[in-house]
Amino acid sequence: MTSMDRIDWAAVFTAVYGAPSSAVMARVHTEVLGDEYPADLDVYSFVTKTDLRRFTADTQVSAGDTIADIGCGRGGPGLWVSAQRNTSLIGIDIAETALDSARRRAETLGRSDRAEFRFGSFAETGLPSTSVNAVMSADSLLFAPDKAVALAELARILVPGGRLVATTWDFHGQPVNMPPQVPDHRPLLEAAGFDVRAYDETDAWRERQIRINELMLEAVDALAGESGGEPDKIVANLKQQRITLDLMTRRVLIVAERR
Ligand SMILES: C[S@@+](CC[C@H](N)C(=O)[O-])C[C@H]1O[C@@H](n2cnc3c(N)ncnc32)[C@H](O)[C@@H]1O
Repeated sequence: MTSMDRIDWAAVFTAVYGAPSSAVMARVHTEVLGDEYPADLDVYSFVTKTDLRRFTADTQVSAGDTIADIGCGRGGPGLWVSAQRNTSLIGIDIAETALDSARRRAETLGRSDRAEFRFGSFAETGLPSTSVNAVMSADSLLFAPDKAVALAELARILVPGGRLVATTWDFHGQPVNMPPQVPDHRPLLEAAGFDVRAYDETDAWRERQIRINELMLEAVDALAGESGGEPDKIVANLKQQRITLDLMTRRVLIVAERR
């Protein structure tokens, strides 16, 4: 067993979402992403307004369909996309605190009758076979411990012809603190039963992530102040994220159709 296997991601994300959303992180993302920052969606990712428009258009869903959002976090992206197309939404995440937050968000938006949030993972969504018209996933697939297993599970729950639209990263090296990464998701998608319709590097992703990391490091005292965390640990974590960033080849927006 290697050190990366020992990270309990459910515990990590349960703690993240158990705390209030970081105002410092929101300020930094706003500064770097500008108009591209989806300020109202309480995201915990690098997802942009352009990505969200692609999720909406490229899932090719219509009113009455069902979208699954895997690694849904606090639910903002899935709720936004499903509202654009008047679809139902099933959000899946491994962190109960995220699901609680997503349910509260759906309630506030008056979408509780069309949106549910369930515990599950990329490997085991808990959803029946051929039960959803589309799957979306924003910046979450990199946490799946086995990408082939995850993609097979997404193919299983999709109807034939249904679309997967996801943002994630290809890697040219394995970061020490992360689940196993892959250099290119396309062979895995094909093997799982998908036809790849688009595989697009997203705009300015590297510059943006580098700048966000720099500004977060500069704001370490404010981050420690709002979270009660230890500045040294926050710095170590941000430095590790910077090393991980150097192992990323590209951030991709994947559009794949279930055969
Ligand atoms: C970077 S966050 C993105 C959250 C959300 N999509 C957003 O844009 O705000 C990654 C999410 O993936 C979830 N996650 C991590 N490992 C997972 C797994 N194996 N299966 C499903 N979700 C997972 C985390 O709990 C977290 O909510």
